[in-house]
Amino acid sequence: MDGNGRWAEERSRPRLFGHKAGVDSVREIVEISRTIGVEFLTLYAFSTENWNRPSGEVTGLMGLLKRYLQSELKTMLKNGIRLCCVGQQDRLPADVQSVLQQTISDTEACQGMTLNLALSYGGRSELVQAVRRLAQQCQDGALQWQEISEDSISEHLFTAGQPDPDLLIRTGGEHRLSNFLLWQTSYAELYFTDVKWPDFRKDQLLEAINTYNRRQRRFGKISAQLQGE
Ligand code: FPP
Repeated sequence: MDGNGRWAEERSRPRLFGHKAGVDSVREIVEISRTIGVEFLTLYAFSTENWNRPSGEVTGLMGLLKRYLQSELKTMLKNGIRLCCVGQQDRLPADVQSVLQQTISDTEACQGMTLNLALSYGGRSELVQAVRRLAQQCQDGALQWQEISEDSISEHLFTAGQPDPDLLIRTGGEHRLSNFLLWQTSYAELYFTDVKWPDFRKDQLLEAINTYNRRQRRFGKISAQLQGE
């Protein structure tokens, strides 16, 4: 969800003004995604690297996140949205952790769409944590090293039990992954747009999905092989 800061600067407003407008985009994109049948939506709201931002911006973002969760619970329950967190929840401020935990448990049984918030998330540290857990199991004798597989690694990521993403959208004109779901996006279609996150709304999401639908996903095979499938 890149471009909030620049969107605000273009309007000679503080960066937090852009993040607030970004929350409106979050609401709209969650609602449209659910309506059109997206089953899993992951929003990269705060990376492990974002802790290095000025403390005022970090505090402001945490406040927005807490208020978003508090204000959205009713809508989530009405629309069957299950909230999950991918990331280092324990690094978040205690009050945010508590609202987050409450929202996760309140929406646990919802079956409409899973909304993953990536919070204090970093793909490399997620992989380190998975490797450490597997190594521990080997040391304890619960697992043989030969049994380590792609599936067992996936099962130790924050996204365990969820399918890999089909489409990754990055707004704001940058063309990089920035440590986002490094393992899970191996075969995701990448879509980059110059539109800044506060301006990324229904039409922009549908355009991204239309572009995705025009692509051929071969997963290493050749086109002719796919015709028989
Ligand atoms: C990146 O834009 C955006 C962020 C680091 C924060 C995203 C957070 C929100 C949209 C609001 C809170 C989230 C939820 C789920 C309620 P940037 O600040 O790096 O923009 P820039 O590249 O223009 O500086």
